[in-house]
Amino acid sequence: MVKNFNIIKALCRSALSNPSDAIIHQITRLRDSFENDGYSKEAKSLTNLLSTSKANAEMSPSRLEKSFVNKIAEEITAKTVLPVDKETSTPLAEIFFNSELPERMPLFDENIQYGIKSVINEWIQFDKLLEIDATPASSCLIYGVPGTGKTHLAKWISKEIGIPVVLARLEGLMSSFLGTTSRNIGNLFAFANRYNCVLLLDEFDAIAKLRNDPNEVGEVKRVVNTLLQCLDSRRGKGFTIGVTNHQGLLDPAIWRRFDIQMEIPVPSSDVMFALLKNFLKPLEFKESELKFLVWCIEGMSGADAQTLSHWLKRALVLDKDTNLVSIMKRFALLNSGRMDSIKRNTMLHSDEDFISTLLNDKNYSFKQKDLAPMFGMTASSLSKQISKLKESEKI
Ligand SMILES: Nc1ncnc2c1ncn2[C@@H]1O[C@H](COP(=O)(O)OP(=O)(O)OP(=O)(O)O)[C@@H](O)[C@H]1O
Ligand SMILES: [Mg+2]
Repeated sequence: MVKNFNIIKALCRSALSNPSDAIIHQITRLRDSFENDGYSKEAKSLTNLLSTSKANAEMSPSRLEKSFVNKIAEEITAKTVLPVDKETSTPLAEIFFNSELPERMPLFDENIQYGIKSVINEWIQFDKLLEIDATPASSCLIYGVPGTGKTHLAKWISKEIGIPVVLARLEGLMSSFLGTTSRNIGNLFAFANRYNCVLLLDEFDAIAKLRNDPNEVGEVKRVVNTLLQCLDSRRGKGFTIGVTNHQGLLDPAIWRRFDIQMEIPVPSSDVMFALLKNFLKPLEFKESELKFLVWCIEGMSGADAQTLSHWLKRALVLDKDTNLVSIMKRFALLNSGRMDSIKRNTMLHSDEDFISTLLNDKNYSFKQKDLAPMFGMTASSLSKQISKLKESEKI
């Protein structure tokens, strides 16, 4: 038995977790030398390690193998020690591995989806870019109003790139001690630069505020300057995503550091339709009903569509005799902060007004026969009500 073979084997295994040609060559040499010296059990053990590593390399997606980041950085594992704030020991980051990241891209309009896929494609095919001496965009700022799926998107992009996410933890980074926030940011970036990862800076505005904000003191300037240097240091080391819903607060110099600046808008009516259909599963709704729901929440976010879907599910299960309009009126009543105030007033005023506003909305072309059951009426009673309304308008 070779002395300390367990340690030798552990060293080989950890080297092979990120194999390069040189590492494989040296471990093969070691294996051959054990074989020649008659240590066949140890030689066999190394042969097994080499073949497992080869099999893993073949199974892992080609994008991972080809990643230039992969060749110079270490792999993050569940045992990797996270950087912490020295005063409070709070971790500065949290790691998300592939299996913990969203399977599906959030739903967006086609042009946005196309833009996002092109960013990912650069990473998947970056060897082609290298051939012409180019590198993929290495940073992306995602901004837009709350609840539009920005965090979800950032995590999904990381999943597609195929490497773990290092998500900055603001409560760990921000410190009330002078100079500590800057030091924490430096340590976080040093960690991200060492490992093969996507660095995700969610709620980014908290640390990237304008340096000339009169309400802030010198510490903010220091923090932003550190952040600028850190963002520069990350070039060529891995992908960095900043996410914010207060883009106006970001320092202009920070804006410039991001290769890609992507605004995520509130969902269009087509996207909202698809989102509601998805969120409402397994319940099924007619097309006209979904269209009505989209009308009610137009201009709101994807997160709001999710909230409404939970609301509808609860209401439909608990109160089987209710109709869609009554549920939406209750939603309007109790969600004043979410809803467009004009639509909300229309919904809560009178059924006559509500029906005529819906029928007059040219973007939706609702039909009387579709609206009637939603208001709990027959088609003829709805038609009579409209005739009455028209009569009264003439007077
Ligand atoms: N376009 C969308 N497609 C699919 N899901 C969406 C979409 N928009 C929002 N969601 C869902 O809404 C919830 C909130 O999304 P997320 O946290 O990503 O929003 P955000 O833009 O980061 O919000 P904030 O700015 O408040 O942090 C998530 O469950 C997300 O899946
Ligand atoms: Mg978010």
